[in-house]
Amino acid sequence: MSTISDFNTAAQAGIDREHEVQLSLLRTLCQAIREQRSTSEVAQLLGHFSDYCEAHFVSEELIMRQHSFEEYEDHADDHCHMMGLLKVIATDCEGADSSKLKASTDEALAFIENHISTRDKRFADFLHRAE
Ligand SMILES: [Fe+2]
Repeated sequence: MSTISDFNTAAQAGIDREHEVQLSLLRTLCQAIREQRSTSEVAQLLGHFSDYCEAHFVSEELIMRQHSFEEYEDHADDHCHMMGLLKVIATDCEGADSSKLKASTDEALAFIENHISTRDKRFADFLHRAE
């Protein structure tokens, strides 16, 4: 029989997998920039990563709202900040300054790594307690 505990366990496993994909996609983008790959390839990787982030954030925020998670607002602000950083990267992609592009992607990677190890970790702990 399916219970709320089963749902929470499955939701958490899904979120953990999405975080791994998210980090992998962004590291691939950072690598492509370091290797000075073509603008079109970098733009394609950025588009793929941005789409994935958007879908992941929407799904994570839905689960937070379903559980009335008390840190929802601050957590969602972090997601907005990340999407803002991706817009900066998109602008930097169009410019000729590769060091600026490298700096903005490194900033995004540091931000999302910190987000996953702090805010996402607290939400995971919250879901475990709710099981
Ligand atoms: Fe998050």
